[in-house]
Amino acid sequence: MNAGSAQLLSVKDLSVDFASQEGVVHAVDGVSFSVGSGELVGLVGESGCGKSVTATAILGLTRMLPNATVTGAIEFEGRDLLALPENEVREIRGRDIAMIFQDPVTSLNPVLPIGRLMTEGLENHLGLSHTDATARSIELLSTVGIPQAAERIKDYPHQFSGGMRQRVMIAIALSCNPRLLLADEPTTALDVTIQAQILRLMRQLSSEYGAAVIVITHDLGVVAGMCRRILVMYAGRIVEEGPAKPLFRHPHHPYTVGLLRSVPRLDRPRADELVSIQGLPPDLSHLPPGCAFAPRCWLATDECWCAAPPLAATGEGRRCACFHRDRLVERETERVAP
Ligand SMILES: Nc1ncnc2c1ncn2[C@@H]1O[C@H](COP(=O)(O)OP(=O)(O)OP(=O)(O)O)[C@@H](O)[C@H]1O
Ligand SMILES: [Mg+2]
Repeated sequence: MNAGSAQLLSVKDLSVDFASQEGVVHAVDGVSFSVGSGELVGLVGESGCGKSVTATAILGLTRMLPNATVTGAIEFEGRDLLALPENEVREIRGRDIAMIFQDPVTSLNPVLPIGRLMTEGLENHLGLSHTDATARSIELLSTVGIPQAAERIKDYPHQFSGGMRQRVMIAIALSCNPRLLLADEPTTALDVTIQAQILRLMRQLSSEYGAAVIVITHDLGVVAGMCRRILVMYAGRIVEEGPAKPLFRHPHHPYTVGLLRSVPRLDRPRADELVSIQGLPPDLSHLPPGCAFAPRCWLATDECWCAAPPLAATGEGRRCACFHRDRLVERETERVAP
């Protein structure tokens, strides 16, 4: 969290296990972090590392799944959401905490016109009249780039393209001016012009209304331009955290180094410098006993195979879970720094 901002969200030792036919999937494994009011935080990591599950747990949706076990604490404005009854969490959801879901196709109710989907929240959470809620919905749809919004508000989700549905989702999420917005791959399905508009809109929400935003993405470019602080997740755990600029310039975890090396950059013309991380992320139902990244890590030693390194503070607001941070900083920094 930023030194100057009041704490809004504090996730403490959050774990989410799913019972499955292959065994217990440890989707989120002892994750702790805080977000201050108005802070823009990026949560990054490869596919399947637990980003969406972390977000849906904060929104109070994961605990309702019959095969999920959620433990730890999710303190939002001082109240532990995991300990609150569902009716109280439902009040917070949508009004104080909103989410842009990764999959807009399945997250919009197909039998309701989008106008209904939008006005419902405004009427229930903000107490607007139907006329005012409709006017506000039209305004929001225009803001996210839906042409002829006054007409389109009567249409059903299937009458919109994928990118437009994503923008409708974003309009719904922004409608009640949430204190915390969880934006799960908010721009992945959109073309670059709309992408820039949406990112601007989220920044605006943050600066005008003091809303905090957690941007979840595998696109480091999106978070680099927008977020002040970055959380790097691997196999259900946070492996590195820090202010964006220093973290991108001097990553402390070998996984972050790998992520950065796999991003194409204009100032790195040699194709051979673009390398994907060798191997695959581990199966979350059969995690290795030591560091989950060890099988893919060029710095791994015997120690790494036996025990998981703790996420330890390393100064200047940074944390890192690696036994070999010092070796990495010495050897690799110059090669990856811009
Ligand atoms: N309802 C569920 N039941 C069982 N396993 C689940 C469920 N939801 C998620 N998982 C598993 O939890 C792990 C983390 O999934 P999650 O959706 O959080 O990944 P992610 O980091 O968001 O990936 P992506 O970048 O692909 O969206 C995955 O192994 C996934 O298969
Ligand atoms: Mg996801």
